[in-house]
Amino acid sequence: MALKKKKIKKKSVKKKKAIKQRTALTDKAILDEIIRVDHAGEYGATRIYDGQIAIFGKNSKIGKTIQHMADQEQEHIEKFNELIIEKHVRPTALLPLWNVAGFALGAGTALMGEKAAMACTVAVEKVIGEHYREQQKLIEDDEKELKKTIAKFEKDELEHHNIGLEHDAENAPGYKVMTKVIEIGCKTAIAISKKI
Ligand SMILES: [Fe+2]
Ligand SMILES: [Fe+2]
Repeated sequence: MALKKKKIKKKSVKKKKAIKQRTALTDKAILDEIIRVDHAGEYGATRIYDGQIAIFGKNSKIGKTIQHMADQEQEHIEKFNELIIEKHVRPTALLPLWNVAGFALGAGTALMGEKAAMACTVAVEKVIGEHYREQQKLIEDDEKELKKTIAKFEKDELEHHNIGLEHDAENAPGYKVMTKVIEIGCKTAIAISKKI
């Protein structure tokens, strides 16, 4: 009887080992980059909406719509603040730059009008949404929770993107040029924040 038990135990240990070996591991360098850049991006997003709300005011109709998105960005940055600590990731050294640049982009587009502010949202959220989609392909089964978090945030960013479109973003003066410039700016910021 005792022998049988021992055998069963041995078998289950073997099984556990096999499962462990089969679980694909996310590359640590990639994981660090993902958390660093997402933390930076979410921080930038909160600053963009801060800038827009500073111009429109919290209680205006458009201000309330923006506040809804800003609240979600706040949730996102808080999650990445936790992850930075939990996974021992160095945050980007450029947070002070994204602080100023984000606010300036938000306030600057808001000064151009509501449609321009929404065009900014469309451009930024498009890039962030695509970026989150790409990242999910790089995350393996050992980081299922993170993958789920990013998938949820991708959905939120898509919602923001659509809010922008619903608020007539495409009729902002110079929409095509403006969104292209902002998209390039965001992609550059992403590339830099991964490494620095
Ligand atoms: Fe976000
Ligand atoms: Fe967003």
